[in-house]
Amino acid sequence: MVEHYGNGVSHYKNVIDVPQSIIDELLYLRDAEFDAQYEKDGDLLISKKTGIKENTKAVLEKPVRVQVHQPPAKASEEHYEWWKYASDVSWGVLLKYLEHYPHLMSQIWWCSRGHTLVYEPGARLLAHHDNDVGYAWQVNEKIAGFTEVSAQNVVSTTMHLCDSEGGSMVFPYLDNLEIETKAGDVLVFPANYLATHGITPVDEGSKRISYLTFWGQGSHLIGGGNVLPIKNCEHRVDDSLTWVKTLHQDFVESSGWDEPTLHDRHPQWMASRNIPDHWGGHD
Ligand SMILES: [Fe+2]
Repeated sequence: MVEHYGNGVSHYKNVIDVPQSIIDELLYLRDAEFDAQYEKDGDLLISKKTGIKENTKAVLEKPVRVQVHQPPAKASEEHYEWWKYASDVSWGVLLKYLEHYPHLMSQIWWCSRGHTLVYEPGARLLAHHDNDVGYAWQVNEKIAGFTEVSAQNVVSTTMHLCDSEGGSMVFPYLDNLEIETKAGDVLVFPANYLATHGITPVDEGSKRISYLTFWGQGSHLIGGGNVLPIKNCEHRVDDSLTWVKTLHQDFVESSGWDEPTLHDRHPQWMASRNIPDHWGGHD
């Protein structure tokens, strides 16, 4: 079942079963990741990477990012295939979303490797949107190139791996729509400001776990090639950024649309796969 809320925010319900063993291992990986990142110093936590001291409460109010597809937090061999399957399910949901928003198709060039966010009680996220590079243009000279790939994000998918008390996603530009997710749900929403979203604090005794993938357009040559290269890979999780080369055939298979239907609903789609006339040497 799916609900389309407007502004491109869609909620696909109960699309995947999540074995308890996946959650158990993920929570173990979360703790290992946290210990690898921080050292305790009284009420403070010291980042092992930067040496910066942070208030423990402030750190625990943020989710912990766990990269289940790559060391050191990579899932065990026993569970790794499930995470690849989860990324295939996210892809399948995005293909369904494209039937609702076919014009998005020409903007799906690559995807980021899926990763999880684990929210402990009290953790939350302030309102933000997913193609915000996180700094204003005035500081561009100091920081250019480090994080600009997010400017190319077009749409996000979040798969929810457990039921949560609290930890709802709130969309301020959809009249503060508050979405409660259940284990096995996938949300799809634009990366732009119209789908600005925050996460309410997770209740005591609960957790919130999401598996997140960004889908974007444009090459890494944007911005002087200063961002991560996009790779040709066997699978969408085999590198940080991977071209999505099977979009057309996967979409036709998933939707069952024939060529005339595709042309009818996204007339520019075939044209957008060719070099435009106004590029390359024309005056
Ligand atoms: Fe986000």
